[in-house]
Amino acid sequence: MDPKNRIEYLVNLLNRYNEEYYIYDSPTVSDFEYDALMRELEDLEKNYPEYVLPNSPTRKVGDYVESKLEKVYYSTPMISLANAFSHDELREFDKRVKSFGVIPTYVCELKIDGIASSSHFTNGKFTLGATRGNGAVGENITNNMLTIKSLPKELKMKLDVEVRGEVYMKKTVFESLNEERIKNGEDPFKNPRNAAGGSLRQLDSSITRDRELDLFVYTLVNPEKYGIKKQSEALEFFTALGFEVNPNWRLCKDIEEVINYVEDWKDKRKELNYETDGVVIKVNDFAMQELIGSTVKSPRYAIAYKFPALEVETKLLDIKFTIGRTGVVTPNAVLTPVMIAGSLVQRATLNNEDFVITRDIRIGDTVVVRKAGEIIPEVVRVNLDKRSSDSVPFKMIDTCPICGSRLVRNEAEADHYCLNENCEGRIKANLIYFASRPAMNIEGLGERLVSDLYDLNYIRKITDFYRLKFYQKDLELIEGLGQKSVQTLLDNIELSKNNSLPLVITSLGIRFVGGKVSKTLAKYYNSLSKLMDAKVEDLVAIKDIGIQIAKSVVEFFDKNRDLINELIEIGVNPIEENASVSQKFLGKTFVLTGKLENLTREDATRIIEENGGTTSSSVSKKTDYVLLGTDPGSKYTKAVELGIKIISEEEFMNLVNS
Ligand code: IVH
Repeated sequence: MDPKNRIEYLVNLLNRYNEEYYIYDSPTVSDFEYDALMRELEDLEKNYPEYVLPNSPTRKVGDYVESKLEKVYYSTPMISLANAFSHDELREFDKRVKSFGVIPTYVCELKIDGIASSSHFTNGKFTLGATRGNGAVGENITNNMLTIKSLPKELKMKLDVEVRGEVYMKKTVFESLNEERIKNGEDPFKNPRNAAGGSLRQLDSSITRDRELDLFVYTLVNPEKYGIKKQSEALEFFTALGFEVNPNWRLCKDIEEVINYVEDWKDKRKELNYETDGVVIKVNDFAMQELIGSTVKSPRYAIAYKFPALEVETKLLDIKFTIGRTGVVTPNAVLTPVMIAGSLVQRATLNNEDFVITRDIRIGDTVVVRKAGEIIPEVVRVNLDKRSSDSVPFKMIDTCPICGSRLVRNEAEADHYCLNENCEGRIKANLIYFASRPAMNIEGLGERLVSDLYDLNYIRKITDFYRLKFYQKDLELIEGLGQKSVQTLLDNIELSKNNSLPLVITSLGIRFVGGKVSKTLAKYYNSLSKLMDAKVEDLVAIKDIGIQIAKSVVEFFDKNRDLINELIEIGVNPIEENASVSQKFLGKTFVLTGKLENLTREDATRIIEENGGTTSSSVSKKTDYVLLGTDPGSKYTKAVELGIKIISEEEFMNLVNS
């Protein structure tokens, strides 16, 4: 869609969502989805300022005060925060802060998912409570705030003070409230946040009282009046006054500590009895905050990190089939593009026939898509409420979408295979894999170009990449390439001849042989020629190599002997120098946790592997050693629980050098 239309579309959509959220307390989208769309709009407006619309939701904080409650006008506006969705965005925030010439300490607080409120006290007595409204004008909810037990009605000091915080509903309260509502034939609330909002904005405060709300405070207005110079002091001051402060805040000396905090809470938050959707990070020192200042919309000295969106709803437009290098045919969902965990997702895997059938996923359905970290996006379930009446159940194809040969499904497996080894789809997938990042890592030789080179008949097998140099002039004529990029590409292809033996083995795309197995194979057979002569019985004698892998390796070289000899002749013939490894850690498994002082994680892993050991990412009974750095994560606790030997970096180096 062109940017102008997309902007218009997003403005209308987000304005509708805002109305649903602010006026009716009844959103139809998740916060994650809302944030992602908002982010997309902000980016588009930045790149195409000529298309910014006057009614854009990015231009207001939430202009939706339209209620029967009395209005409250703020002298210090209740502004909201800019969002960060990744560690890199946090580091950028830190850089921006430091560009003001300060070295900040940060306070991290959990971002409570509730309703922002302001409470005023005169001579220590609670006099006024209000919602944020649009930031400048809020709603008077004093009577309703009076029903909140965790809000002190009289402070421990007789002060005039305004504090701001989050009114929220505990998860347990929310659950029993909804149970009750369902019993009475009323619609249940969608989440604790909406329940809190709906309850707080009641005209009849006896209803609010029944709903049991709570409050955590986090902002002190005009702190200088009380001699408070830092956010950390403010939080302590609140406790002294009798407020409830969320106890999980932490002072962090730099952004890396902030990132550790964020990571710590990503999973731990699930154990809390209230919802948090992120972490708010604030420069601790108020004088520094002042120096750094604010934009019209939000302060520059603070940012809200949002925990990664794991699940987002979108529409499944089509199901397309792709074929992999082993011949597996996979159904894929073509989706209406959505932002998940900071990246735009338009395709998701549907894995195989069984996956689609058991979830009854159909074209046209509204589906929930999940993406966690680097994992390929996946369709988790269908929202049946939004299914159209004319949708038809999914049916797996029975012939290869590329070569048309009959697909085969093994009894024990869920996957369908195209068994035609000359299938163009499979050949292409193999070539793409050979050049890709986890394999030969040839920069500039991506999926698209390999596919084009194949279609133009330049390549049929992996050795053809190394003959492309004979067609330099012709290649320069391909659309999208030019003299310079062809030269760089050819240079990179030549350079790949220096790749290590494990990388080259990985690139061959032997079934069951990924990076880790390749490393093991390279250790025992220090060249392609030697590996080519390996027998099944030799291979299975190696730790970590089972019969399935052994058979697959032998079968591969039986079939591809000529190709591999050609590869060696061309000059892709790495020799593994350190093949005879030390046996010091033979058979030992290490887990690394926390930050090491003198070694990087890569160094430590290399040392372990050079000495015959392996590393694993999680602690189990099979772990022999946990190498402990500073600020360790949950792996440390697990190791203590299981009684695994925990060693420091120093002890580790002593072991290595002993
Ligand atoms: S600080 C200028 N701290 O998240 C400072 N906000 O966009 C503004 N929130 O509107 C707020 N927990 O509703 C702050 N510990 C916390 C918070 C928090 C939740 C909410 C608040 C705010 C929004 C940020």
